[in-house]
Amino acid sequence: MAVRCSKVKRQFILLIGLFLVLTFILQMVPSYFEVQTNMLTALQFAKFESRLLNNKSFTVANRLNDPVALWKVHPSDDRILLQAKFNPKIDLSLSPKRILLEQGLAGWNVNDGKQAFVDHDCPVKHCELHGHPNGEEFDARIFKEIELNSHFLGGAQAEVRRHSDQVWIMFALESPEASPSYVGLNDVINWTATYRYDSTMMTPYDKFQIYDNFTQISDYKSDKNYAQGKTKLAAIFVSNCYASNARLEYVKELQQYMDLDFYGSCGNLRCDKGEGNNCFQNLQKEYKFYLSFENANCRDYITEKFFLNALRHDVVPVVMGAHPDDYRRAAPPGSFIHVEDFPNAQALAGHLKRLNEQDDEYNDYFRWKRTGQFVDTKFWCRICSLLWDTDLPHQSIHDLEQWWRGENICIGKRRWDEISNSSKLHVR
Ligand SMILES: *[C@@H]1O[C@H](CO)[C@@H](O)[C@H](O)[C@H]1NC(C)=O
Ligand SMILES: *[C@@H]1O[C@H](CO)[C@@H](O)[C@H](O)[C@H]1NC(C)=O
Ligand SMILES: *[C@@H]1O[C@H](CO)[C@@H](O)[C@H](O)[C@H]1NC(C)=O
Ligand SMILES: *[C@@H]1O[C@H](CO)[C@@H](O)[C@H](O)[C@H]1NC(C)=O
Repeated sequence: MAVRCSKVKRQFILLIGLFLVLTFILQMVPSYFEVQTNMLTALQFAKFESRLLNNKSFTVANRLNDPVALWKVHPSDDRILLQAKFNPKIDLSLSPKRILLEQGLAGWNVNDGKQAFVDHDCPVKHCELHGHPNGEEFDARIFKEIELNSHFLGGAQAEVRRHSDQVWIMFALESPEASPSYVGLNDVINWTATYRYDSTMMTPYDKFQIYDNFTQISDYKSDKNYAQGKTKLAAIFVSNCYASNARLEYVKELQQYMDLDFYGSCGNLRCDKGEGNNCFQNLQKEYKFYLSFENANCRDYITEKFFLNALRHDVVPVVMGAHPDDYRRAAPPGSFIHVEDFPNAQALAGHLKRLNEQDDEYNDYFRWKRTGQFVDTKFWCRICSLLWDTDLPHQSIHDLEQWWRGENICIGKRRWDEISNSSKLHVR
């Protein structure tokens, strides 16, 4: 009897243990999915609007008398348009530049071969994409951040002879907090293609280009009344309940001071984003504000939560994530409210409630619509043109871990204004 009893107890303890392990694993799943979907959305959205502006648009930078150069981080120009229009003379009798997408074409929304360069109407199309190492020499190899760890690279380096003209590119859309360790990856990666402003090729989730004739935001008026018919104040959609920046705590605090509808697996409301995108259509119709709270406070980390969920759905984004300077640089002028514009959640709630009463002031957050447009960032064109640059510099990131995850790149639960020198991280 005693023996049987302890056996039952043991099984019970085992069951509890199993349950705990399973709960832990399930907790991790949402963050993994968030990683994967972010990447897909960004790539599909690169095609959203494909017209590039004429080359006069470089005057924004010229005004600062600082010439924009292909290979050098610029204080006020992300160099995307310059790189996209770069048209080096090429010798078509040479074989095309071959670009290997490590781990295959899946998730990139492209086909084998030259198609991507044709589709985006690239100035230089003499390049090919490959999803499999087929024994040929490649001119460039692209590693997504998830694949990029010392184990994988150690193996890859041994497996393929690397000549000094071959360019190894790190592609990243996720924050340093969602990336593996890069310790030891010293002088391995030649170019970076990330949302970080100081990347070799900046790859933001979206790019808003201000027209040449832009004067100042106060000269513009909103094109219509965006408050019309909206009956609800604010909404947030969150599927990943874990966030290093304590966004959930902030949301709970805000809810004490204002009406805030909380959708997603960590909120009390549900909306299935899968079904014909109704969620965001309702957001657009009913709500005045959308909380575009990223899951990490990291420099330049501004995702589709801002560009797609909010700006493309005519709700004013209230943002938490990157430094306010990073938003000012990436966002359409006057298009957002940063949580750090206010000392605390109560003050922010007060501001939102006041805007709820003042349609004129609310509509000021839409003046940006007349100041510019979203443009295709021409990722594939830029890679192809840069690979054909006859002055292509030989370069590599000396310490990738330090570059990606250095001091004050991500700041956890802290506010940016607590970090006095955080603006000095990049050339500005
Ligand atoms: C603008 O680009 C076109 C071709 O894209 C080129 O012919 C023209 O010289 C450029 N203009 C300036 C001012 O750079
Ligand atoms: C500014 O330029 C844009 C794009 O070229 C044009 O649509 C708009 O009408 C211009 N605005 C003014 C005030 O000239
Ligand atoms: C790429 O980096 C490696 C390692 O530092 C270097 O030997 C090579 O010259 C670099 N190539 C280019 C094209 O930058
Ligand atoms: C920021 O300032 C602190 C001390 O004031 C210093 O230790 C740190 O190195 C600085 N960080 C950067 C990135 O400049």
